Amino acid sequence: MKLSAFGEKFSGTSGIVELMDDLGTALSENPDMIFMGGGNPGRLQQVEAIFQQRLEAVMNDPRQRHALFGIYQAPQGDLDFRQQVASFLSKHCGWQLTANNISISNGSQPAFFALYNMFAGTMSDGSHRSIHLPLAPEYLGYADIGLSDDFFTATRPTIELLDNQLFKYHVDFSTLELTGNTAAMCVSRPTNPTGNVLTDEEIAHLDAIACKQDIPFIIDGAYGSPFPNIMFVDANSHWNENTILTLSLSKLGLPGVRTGIIVAREDIIEAYTNINTIVSLACGTLGPALAKELFKTGEILSITRDYVTPFYRERSAQTVQWFREKMGDLPYHIHKPEGAIFLWLWFEGLPITSRELYERLKKRGVLIVPGQDFFIGMDDDWQHKHECIRVSYAQDAEVVKKGVEIIAEEVHRAYLEG
Ligand SMILES: Cc1ncc(COP(=O)(O)O)c(C=O)c1O
Repeated sequence: MKLSAFGEKFSGTSGIVELMDDLGTALSENPDMIFMGGGNPGRLQQVEAIFQQRLEAVMNDPRQRHALFGIYQAPQGDLDFRQQVASFLSKHCGWQLTANNISISNGSQPAFFALYNMFAGTMSDGSHRSIHLPLAPEYLGYADIGLSDDFFTATRPTIELLDNQLFKYHVDFSTLELTGNTAAMCVSRPTNPTGNVLTDEEIAHLDAIACKQDIPFIIDGAYGSPFPNIMFVDANSHWNENTILTLSLSKLGLPGVRTGIIVAREDIIEAYTNINTIVSLACGTLGPALAKELFKTGEILSITRDYVTPFYRERSAQTVQWFREKMGDLPYHIHKPEGAIFLWLWFEGLPITSRELYERLKKRGVLIVPGQDFFIGMDDDWQHKHECIRVSYAQDAEVVKKGVEIIAEEVHRAYLEG
């Protein structure tokens, strides 16, 4: 089979593909595997019941049922849904938005593929531009998304050590450097994998840098406010005409319906929509059908406030507590859990790499994600990259607790015996 450059890059094995395959194989070989690896949201009965009711209402209405199954949405997404989202965001966040500022995607992941490649890569004059991550570790799903090589650059964060074994990454503005070849900046907020929430000051500073350089500032709000609002600290949502905010229904409990929402200036929305039409023709109807009414009534906010945010807040605090009990006086640190659905653990001076720890844990029936692949756009040999792991706490409490025990045993063993 003779492949194009695109074919070679995207059909080959990249770090993320290998890792996802490995997770998949491990799960199929051992169905009892403790799954603390992937990004699946927790299962919240009350939220599931609300979606079930919504689905039944749609199914019982012949007009809505036909729209759900039998009609292609407009390429930008169902107009009524976009209007509801725009007026919801205008009302709750104070942004001046209309339906023309909103586009729908089949999950936010493909939106990143389109947006990143729209701005970065080979330019029409042959020059090359890249996306800058002002703070890595960042979301693994970006790593292989570029159509060309050298797609990302990144700034190494500063580390603030906090009490009680906690730490927090900050954007290091003293070393953050953009060049004329920087196409856009992007952050996930809250950050996957660390659970960091960039402060309002950091966001304002990054926004000012992006505006000055005249490049877009992309904020990935897959876990952010106003929904699903998996945030445990106070932070304001941010959008302006230079910002592209991506939102998603996935972490509300709907990863299977694949609905992402892009909020941007009209010319960016238009350009994105044209790409999406070529790639997807139209977006799925199920997510908008389920969520439309929730935006209209504002129920989307009460769902997050009453169920989603408290679930993750309590579970993260509980999981940190379990780690503290089991880790004892080992030289471990946990990134201050400010949001998202993971803990990011840093084992200072770990005698083995996090990849080796991952392999050992897999043999013990626990899946986590080793840290080094999250340091996207950072080629330096920073030891820290090999000392971190990401652990999801979204599964059932008993399962998470058991996983923590096994992780702690293996980390103890690694420090003792190498
Ligand atoms: C930070 C972040 N962004 C984007 C995505 C993609 O989510 P989806 O395509 O389900 O909207 C994920 C998924 O885990 C994520 O963690």
